[in-house]
Amino acid sequence: MDSIVILDFGSQYTQLIGRRVRELGVYSEIIPGDHALDASMLRECKGIILSGSPWSAYQEGAPRTHPSVLQAGLPVLAICYGIQRLTLDHGGRVERLSEREYGRMPVRVLPDRLTGITTDAGGARTGAPLHALLNGIPDRFVSWMSHGDSITQPGEGWQVLGVSEGDIPAILAHRTMPWWGLQFHPEVSHCEHGMDILANFVFGVCGARKGWSMEAYLAQEAEALRARVGDRKVLLLISGGVDSTVAGALLLETLNPEQVYLLYIDTGLMRKAENDEVMRNLRRLGARHLHAVDAEARFLEALRGVEDPEQKRRIIGDMFVSVQEETVAMLGISDAFLAQGTLYTDLIESGKGVGNKAQVIKSHHNVRSPLIERKRAAGLIIEPLDRLYKDEVRALGRVLGLPEEIVGRHPFPGPGLGVRILGEVTREKCDILREVDSIFIRELRKRGLYDSIWQAFAVLLPVRSVGVAGDERTYKYVVALRAIQSEDGMTAQVYPFSMSDLLEISATITNSVPQVGRVVYDISSKPPATIEWE
Ligand code: XMP
Repeated sequence: MDSIVILDFGSQYTQLIGRRVRELGVYSEIIPGDHALDASMLRECKGIILSGSPWSAYQEGAPRTHPSVLQAGLPVLAICYGIQRLTLDHGGRVERLSEREYGRMPVRVLPDRLTGITTDAGGARTGAPLHALLNGIPDRFVSWMSHGDSITQPGEGWQVLGVSEGDIPAILAHRTMPWWGLQFHPEVSHCEHGMDILANFVFGVCGARKGWSMEAYLAQEAEALRARVGDRKVLLLISGGVDSTVAGALLLETLNPEQVYLLYIDTGLMRKAENDEVMRNLRRLGARHLHAVDAEARFLEALRGVEDPEQKRRIIGDMFVSVQEETVAMLGISDAFLAQGTLYTDLIESGKGVGNKAQVIKSHHNVRSPLIERKRAAGLIIEPLDRLYKDEVRALGRVLGLPEEIVGRHPFPGPGLGVRILGEVTREKCDILREVDSIFIRELRKRGLYDSIWQAFAVLLPVRSVGVAGDERTYKYVVALRAIQSEDGMTAQVYPFSMSDLLEISATITNSVPQVGRVVYDISSKPPATIEWE
């Protein structure tokens, strides 16, 4: 299958470049920016994209490309830091700007007499090799920029094809090699014609053929899984989230269901009706060994009287491990493979890229379990989703026949309602929160808003507040609603509900849940707030 290799220098947008290329139907792979390209990578690679970076190219220790990259003779599209890197490496100049170019920035493609490129009789730039990247792109458009350094003199052999305000180079091309540079970010959705430029590169310049689809992935993965697993057993821990459910569906579809052991631990901290829904769907997909462990009482007992968020997380994580160990021992499948719903993003974020991404969400959320460590040491881990982005996991779930309510579900944290009940967690509070959360989600679905929101949920606050009902004074719980938009959970913006939606949802909650007397809407972005409250 044709592919595009992306060299990651640590930009927050690297993942987005990878996703955009796949949205074009071409497989993309992200590797650390300073790695050599070996023969196995080059076999199917049609072009290379260099990402941006938090580094300045002239800083000591800034990542560099390995000589094998340009020696490969493949087309290269260098974005932001990428083109600054090549500019310095080729004897040009990169300097700090007095003002950063950030956000929407107009770009002007230079007239042909300045670039020395001829156009055909109709004035079209089609066919001129230096312009292949700009086919069909207007002379002026609004790009998306995010850089503090700029190219003040192009490298040897490079010329400027387009500039931003102040004549700062924004589009560059090499005179003899199929290498381009963009100071802006075509992968960001606010960049006009960004997808057209990427498509010009992937198809027009690299000549890549479309071959990436979830059907193709499924066929490839099925073959690989069968070869690796043979007739051994596979254990998968089901969390109720999209990833593990899709991983379960994939195993059931590609292996003999008799080989597949699914383990679900009910912590008592799940959403309303979640347990039944997950079980029902897995059974419908043909699960034969589906083990649901009711551990609610143990989790709640361990959490009794605990208020500190970190301590709660630790207790929940440890209890998970204990229940897991006991159940696996009971099932007598100690030599089984362990399947995990790890995604491509998890791998990149946990240090496969060169960027300073140690501070990432998933790695510190995921519980380090002895079971996982043991299986890893024995070479018995399989990660059948590890080349997929979240959107692709959802698409694969649809191909595997999972219903929309499952595949389109918002993310849900491992510790569940435990981190959405501030202060001590009790059964009563879990029940109240389950009820409020399910009303909130039902109202979003009813209004057709659920799918345009990345994550929405309710939080039970550790305060009560005064209210009135008839002639009586009440003293009830306060809940906060949270709804955000995000690409990947790393940053988030508040969802801008209409006031009438908020008023109606609030009234529905206080009318239906007698223990709740007040509803507030959380209007904090991430940063500085996090998405969850604990
Ligand atoms: P924060 O609160 O860190 O959340 O902004 C970012 C995303 O991660 C989810 N989250 C978790 N996911 N285990 C998980 O698997 C956890 O412990 C955990 N904590 C937060 C959160 O729901 C959001 O989508």
